[in-house]
Amino acid sequence: MSNKVLVLPGDGIGPEIVAEAVKVLDVLATEFDLDINLDNGLIGGAAIDATGNPLPDETLKNARYADAILLGAVGGPKWESLDIAIRPEKGLLKIRSELDLFANLRPALTAPQLVEASALRSEVVSGLDIMIVRELTGGIYFGQPRGIRELENGEKQGFNTLIYSESEIRRIGHVAFEAAMKRDRRVCSIDKANVLEATELWRDVMDEVAKDYPDVELSHMYVDNAAMQLVRTPKQFDVMVTTNMFGDILSDLASMLTGSIGMLPSASLDKEGKGMYEPIHGSAPDIAGQNIANPLATILSVAMMLRYSLGEEKQAERVEQAVDAVLTAGYRTPDIYSEGEGMRKVGTIEMGDAVVAALKG
Ligand code: IPM
Ligand code: MG
Repeated sequence: MSNKVLVLPGDGIGPEIVAEAVKVLDVLATEFDLDINLDNGLIGGAAIDATGNPLPDETLKNARYADAILLGAVGGPKWESLDIAIRPEKGLLKIRSELDLFANLRPALTAPQLVEASALRSEVVSGLDIMIVRELTGGIYFGQPRGIRELENGEKQGFNTLIYSESEIRRIGHVAFEAAMKRDRRVCSIDKANVLEATELWRDVMDEVAKDYPDVELSHMYVDNAAMQLVRTPKQFDVMVTTNMFGDILSDLASMLTGSIGMLPSASLDKEGKGMYEPIHGSAPDIAGQNIANPLATILSVAMMLRYSLGEEKQAERVEQAVDAVLTAGYRTPDIYSEGEGMRKVGTIEMGDAVVAALKG
């Protein structure tokens, strides 16, 4: 049966980078017998403009029906003055939550060809391979009550709730430990248990989950220290597991260890492994429409999709090898460009074309 993939380009650079990822899927279909059926949908600001809703019912319906979803990015200044309840980001949060995509895998791998593009010294980042496992459908992003209220003295007060139940912590814990079993068998759980009760419970539940995995070593770290350690000695980490908000922040930080946020893919999975795949970066409205965005994070997200949701390991490796080949050949979008022999500064489309050419061999 044909794999059904729903493509949601979104806003800003979303449509440009997704177009390159779709080219990759098309080549896999025509040249390498990938059985795939692509459908398009609206999300974010593009959906607000067309329907008034950042996640139209039709998109959600098609997303439920699809085997996997490929997403670009959402948001931009055009929609920033809208009420928070109907902003583009709400569309993204709602699709994550409606589809129960609680497990967000964000690998931070430094490609050897890009060691020089990192802001850190090459010996600190070369060979880096971290898997950040971010809880994606709970915590302060979704906790109730939330809002902005007016106090009796007329002053406004904003409030959110950081809330986690044992079952939510347990299931993301298992994802992290399972991931570690396939890697270096080390999990570092990141919390702020010295201040926040919700993450005190997080720590306790992680200790409990660890008992099911005697071969995996569990450690705990406060998030402030983790931010520091990630910059100081990032290679000490194997799998990091953390809450929705800490994971959001630490994955942006980790991306810069790899050279550019334009390189990092992600998978957001439900308990059956169905998933949505997106680059970890945002819609970058400042560079949209200029053919300079890096499409590699989205193309690498396609590889994750092939591996995790479509069971196409061979095709996933093809895509990763093609990306590796174009980096070796010196192709660089501006975000990963540094002067040197054989370096070729290219645009979004040329980078996509180079990956396609590498795939064709
Ligand atoms: C991410 C993004 C989103 C998040 C935004 C766009 C809502 O920053 O996927 O990391 O905060 O989760
Ligand atoms: Mg983020």
